[in-house]
Amino acid sequence: MVYREFYLITQFTKLTGCKVPVQLAGMPGVNTIELASAVSNAGGLGMISATHMTADFLSDTLEILKEKTSMPAGVNFLMPFLDLDAVKIAASKVKVVEFFYGSPEASLVELVHHYGALACWQIGSKEEAVQAQAAGCDLIVAQGIQAGGHVRGDIELMLLLSEVLDSVSIPVIAAGGIGTSNQVAEILKTGASALRIGTRFIAAKESGAHPKYVQALIDSNAEDTILTETFSVGWPNAHHRVLKSCVEQVNSFKGDIVGERDLGGEKKSVLKGSIALPTKQTTGHIEAMALYAGESVGAVEEVKSAAEIISELTREL
Ligand SMILES: Cc1cc2nc3c(=O)[nH]c(=O)nc-3n(C[C@H](O)[C@H](O)[C@H](O)COP(=O)(O)O)c2cc1C
Repeated sequence: MVYREFYLITQFTKLTGCKVPVQLAGMPGVNTIELASAVSNAGGLGMISATHMTADFLSDTLEILKEKTSMPAGVNFLMPFLDLDAVKIAASKVKVVEFFYGSPEASLVELVHHYGALACWQIGSKEEAVQAQAAGCDLIVAQGIQAGGHVRGDIELMLLLSEVLDSVSIPVIAAGGIGTSNQVAEILKTGASALRIGTRFIAAKESGAHPKYVQALIDSNAEDTILTETFSVGWPNAHHRVLKSCVEQVNSFKGDIVGERDLGGEKKSVLKGSIALPTKQTTGHIEAMALYAGESVGAVEEVKSAAEIISELTREL
């Protein structure tokens, strides 16, 4: 019992007010309001991905989120697509505002603090972790190379954690390839104060991912993923981890358009090699689109509710 309380209450839970040390990764198209609120209501940190949202749209989204949960939540921004007005809205409405894929910036952290939220930065190296702390971040995410989606660094998670935990004093959330309760218990023993989970939540009941994408995850294991730059239309020169199968499919695809997606009622073509992942509203050759997946994919066995995924991941704590 002491063991359980020791690991369920961490620097992360104390700082954020969450009940369990689990954060939903920011995943555009996957993180519906239903998924973010389900994670928050289950005691974790539900996240909305603000990428490609206008400030007004984000504001409306966060108002709906508030109706669905009164528990702590956060908003994720990708630095290459940053909208400062949206950052101000996010920081005035949620507990945590977080950034990824750019060097930590003190002015952004100050802006987040000014509007009332905690600032977090997902990093991929010890150097970036130190910069994030120096920039005033309240917490960081250390992302190992096993992660699904875009990958910042080139170090395996446990090695990165040991370097980062020795170098900063702010709470560290571990990310990349985490899919089982054994891993969760092992990682918390290192001194990390929470786990950031992406791939497992793509197969949550509340996720926005296309069913064929989810099925491809269920059918795959860690060795079926690859780090590549194949899906670079819209965001060049950035490594990402996807299923090998979608790289093979897109490479043999003849034509420039793989399908169509629905952006708030407006139909848009999905270009061959686009960074856009297939959501439930996407049509066309789903198998040739960016099927992001971490090495945690082997733990994706069936569709479960977000609450079930969280209780499964934390059952050894
Ligand atoms: C589909 C997908 C989309 C992602 N998009 C983002 C993003 O927009 N912002 C971000 O900070 N991280 C993003 N990531 C990376 C996650 O934050 C996290 O590092 C990763 O999911 C952890 O590895 P896991 O997928 O094995 O759990 C994405 C990951 C996936 C799988």
